[in-house]
Amino acid sequence: MNTQDALQATVDALVQKGKGILAADESSPTIAKRFKAIGVESTEENRRNYRNLILATPGLGEFISGVILFEETLGQCADDGTPLPVLAAQQGIVPGIKVDQGKLPLANAPGDEITQGLDGLEQRLQVYKTQGARFAKWRDVYLISATTPSRLAIEANAEVLARYAAICQVQGIVPIVEPEVLIDGDHSIDRCAEVTEAVLHEVFHALHRHRVVLEHMLLKPSMVIPGKAYSSKASPQEVAAQTIKIFRRTVPAAVPCINFLSGGQTPEEATANLNALNSLPQQPWELSFSYGRALQQSALLAWKGDVANARSTQEAMYKRARLNSAARYGEYTPALESTDE
Ligand code: 13P
Repeated sequence: MNTQDALQATVDALVQKGKGILAADESSPTIAKRFKAIGVESTEENRRNYRNLILATPGLGEFISGVILFEETLGQCADDGTPLPVLAAQQGIVPGIKVDQGKLPLANAPGDEITQGLDGLEQRLQVYKTQGARFAKWRDVYLISATTPSRLAIEANAEVLARYAAICQVQGIVPIVEPEVLIDGDHSIDRCAEVTEAVLHEVFHALHRHRVVLEHMLLKPSMVIPGKAYSSKASPQEVAAQTIKIFRRTVPAAVPCINFLSGGQTPEEATANLNALNSLPQQPWELSFSYGRALQQSALLAWKGDVANARSTQEAMYKRARLNSAARYGEYTPALESTDE
């Protein structure tokens, strides 16, 4: 298969009706934080056990088309010796890999950060491909405050994100382009809309400059939503309306799918907001999910590091995936939260 055909085949496998992507690519410090919250030590074996368990969830592939893994997980095996990316693929779930290497303060832009990881990326991708990865993820972060994100941060982050995406496509790896406008802060939904519009505009300008083929990438953005510390919450209808307004202005119709991150929304909020997005008239792109916390929180709470909880962990994982699948069709209602399955 030539590179263009390989990219298209991966996009087709990832973008399927009623399905979305599971983000299970927490970096070592982040997974340590998640485990600490349930009283589990973050050892390599505990991380392997947990990720083995959720990837082995029976039927997960009915709702999940792709999984983003951390580098360590790509090299780990299930209890029966099956490599974890192979286990995912056996479920019909395409394995992907987080390739950015975290962020640093951006020089001369107080309060802003820049994502790193371009050095050696081409060579790393070649290794990840041999381990089964067919797509990649890179996350840029924008903090909203009175003075951030600065113009410099918006431009510099867009540039590295576009360079990453171009390098991936040359290697036959579908890039997930993730500009995350953080939910932290007391800003209004209007301020989030203003920042998101500036960020997305710059990201697509940079993608064009770097000749990234928009049909062969996925966008993983944050929703347009008020800051966590803002005085009131926005309804799912308001989040959906504001998000679509900004995205119609900035995201070309050639992008096949928008896979939102949950970014600190509760699992129920993230599902309800996705449902509201899919209840609006049809948009040029598919509207899906690539949730980390919003898909895994109930599974982590059920697991608590104990293999005796394997069944309830997988049931929690399956249920959250199923509810988000319903939201892909605009068929989720909060009443579904209480139905057992
Ligand atoms: P959350 O859905 O928990 O924000 O995680 C998504 C993700 O992959 C962040 O990079």
